[in-house]
Amino acid sequence: MDDKEVASTLTLGFSQSFGTPPEILVNSPGRINLIGEHTDYCGGLVLPFASNLSIGFAALPRPEPRVAVEYLDLGEGDSFALPPRIEERGMASSRYLKGVIQALQSNGYRVGGMDLAIMGDLPIEAGMSSSAALELGTCMCAEFCSNLRLDPLTRAKICHQAEREYFGVQCGIMDQYACALGERERVLLIDCATGYIERIPLKLDGSALLVCDSRVRRELSNSAYNLRRRECEEAISLIMSRGKYSSLVEMREDSEWEMEAENLPLRLQPRLKHFIEENQRVRWATECLKNGDLERLGKIIYQSHCSLRDLYHVSIAQLDFLVDRAMATEGVLGSRLMGAGFGGCTLNLVLKEHVDSFKKRIAAEYRERYGLEAVLYEVYPSEGSHFVSI
Ligand code: GLA
Repeated sequence: MDDKEVASTLTLGFSQSFGTPPEILVNSPGRINLIGEHTDYCGGLVLPFASNLSIGFAALPRPEPRVAVEYLDLGEGDSFALPPRIEERGMASSRYLKGVIQALQSNGYRVGGMDLAIMGDLPIEAGMSSSAALELGTCMCAEFCSNLRLDPLTRAKICHQAEREYFGVQCGIMDQYACALGERERVLLIDCATGYIERIPLKLDGSALLVCDSRVRRELSNSAYNLRRRECEEAISLIMSRGKYSSLVEMREDSEWEMEAENLPLRLQPRLKHFIEENQRVRWATECLKNGDLERLGKIIYQSHCSLRDLYHVSIAQLDFLVDRAMATEGVLGSRLMGAGFGGCTLNLVLKEHVDSFKKRIAAEYRERYGLEAVLYEVYPSEGSHFVSI
């Protein structure tokens, strides 16, 4: 949603729900990751941006310690007392709100009551970080309603803490960083080992980025995700313990890492190979962006998919099908699964003049093969979570 839409729909929706206008509006984007998948939690490189698809919030402080929230898309509401208890019954989405408020409180911030209305065009649980968008939007509303002011980095860290502590996913920092720190027309090259961020212009000239939502939702994926993380960490720490490298960055950048990997247990070798090579692909992709080589960028994006499928084992048949069919379609430069995998979406780099035919063709082929309606969205870099004037 753009800021104008947030201002009109959320102001109206809030006023209808609570009988009074809101005092503050927030636009909170999702995350698109160009490349650098399953590397953030082990200190790798990632290249994400904040998306044009987002969740809008309207808020008004309330005197008593209670949060009332209307989910305008669902036509349903919920309310809970402060301090919140995550385990108490309530709507699934409200758990993210409670998690962020708890994380704020555990960091010493006093959070007061508020009325909230929430609505967006960001698909939920589709691999575009709707959870980070919900968390950051909630955090900003809570800040306003409680007279707090956090900088975007602190905000990202608090929301990341909420995600890890309260939802059992041992995720990395990529989603919250991208959603909080994103900028229009730029991708963020984030070194998750050092926290260093470089902003790189995304000039797609005759191409577009399209997300294809497979409509297959991640199931039982938290445990698989956490297992991948443990395996990758184990591989890295075994190599580091041999003493050849004094830092993770040194190890990550060494071109002779394969010699070190040879003695690792077999189950860990493909995980490490993905980690090292995906970091290399992020560097190459960055070069492609800097010198406008979109053909090569597309090939690197596809290599990332093959690695996620064959070495990291986080793909599923539907995502492989979407990627294979995309790569066989005229005008598609690159395609890969995006996000954690096990369901969710693919990201496709497509020449502009082929966008319409690509959309029709991929949706038809997917419907015929799986009986599912894929949904396609054009995505581009937008501003991270921000206040919108009323
Ligand atoms: C999820 C996590 C991120 C990252 C990706 C995979 O989106 O939240 O931290 O690990 O998966 O790259």
